[in-house]
Amino acid sequence: MQYISVIGSGTMGNGIAHTFAQFGFEVSLVDIDDVALTKAMATIGSNLDRQLKKDTITEADKMHILNRITTFTDLADGVHRADLVVEAATENEEIKLVLFKELDKSCPHHTILTSNTSSISITKIASVTQRPENVIGMHFMNPVPVMKLVEVIKGYSTSKTTTNSVIALSNQIDKVAIEVNDYPGFVANRILMPMINEAIYTLFEGVADVEAIDAVMKLGMAHPMGPLQLADFIGLDVCLAILRVLHEGFGNPKYAPCPLLVNMVMAGKLGRKAGQGFYTY
Ligand SMILES: NC(=O)c1ccc[n+]([C@@H]2O[C@H](COP(=O)([O-])OP(=O)(O)OC[C@H]3O[C@@H](n4cnc5c(N)ncnc54)[C@H](O)[C@@H]3O)[C@@H](O)[C@H]2O)c1
Repeated sequence: MQYISVIGSGTMGNGIAHTFAQFGFEVSLVDIDDVALTKAMATIGSNLDRQLKKDTITEADKMHILNRITTFTDLADGVHRADLVVEAATENEEIKLVLFKELDKSCPHHTILTSNTSSISITKIASVTQRPENVIGMHFMNPVPVMKLVEVIKGYSTSKTTTNSVIALSNQIDKVAIEVNDYPGFVANRILMPMINEAIYTLFEGVADVEAIDAVMKLGMAHPMGPLQLADFIGLDVCLAILRVLHEGFGNPKYAPCPLLVNMVMAGKLGRKAGQGFYTY
């Protein structure tokens, strides 16, 4: 594999593009929003500066990495030579189903189509394509250049060849791939989101304030950051979308999103990317 196309240049898309470019792949970064693409390239630049300061890359490496990333607003242009696509667009089933239909039409026959979705069924996404055996979940963690895990989600029809290719590719970019099956929330978010939701309920019910809740989990459970700060980093809209998938997928009221989370998303307090969530940025 040589050509990787990343669809969506938000929180995750820019990190995924950065990581593949750092390991020598030619990356096409696609977004419907030109402003998002400009912002993504600026973010990649400043994240590379941080690596430069830590001496993990050189000035020449930084230039090569940036030169390996090309941005596109037209999907067909951005994927016409892709060996593998990582879709990291907004966590919305309708958007992803439309995108995968388009990807299936515009990509070469050999292209593996992956989604970075946090919770939407890979089997359902694959079903709108003519190549369900080549569709798989590649769930990166934020921040992508730093976090080791890729949760690899096998859809009902995903072939062994596709799974093996994606595991090998993950190893090539210095990640550890863990194979899981396709059920709501997979493993990571099925466990993480109920914890975050419970932390929001704890705040909502006045048990403790934001700092206290996060401090209890950091100091008491050795978590590197508290659940409310983590929710801000993930994006509160993303957390809400995942909880809705869990709630609907399992039909179990224990996954019902806290009303405070719903209100904050409606108010546009989406966390770090919006400058305001449980904390101010
Ligand atoms: N934020 C996290 O910590 C995290 C972690 C793991 C996985 N994910 C998943 O990654 C995906 C992206 O999440 P994010 O947090 O980066 O979202 P984000 O809101 O930061 O960015 C989404 C980007 O997708 C673009 N987009 C929307 N529709 C598009 C289309 N049709 N074509 C091209 N671009 C389009 C938007 O313009 C935006 O720039 C979601 O599926 C999410 O569940 C997020």
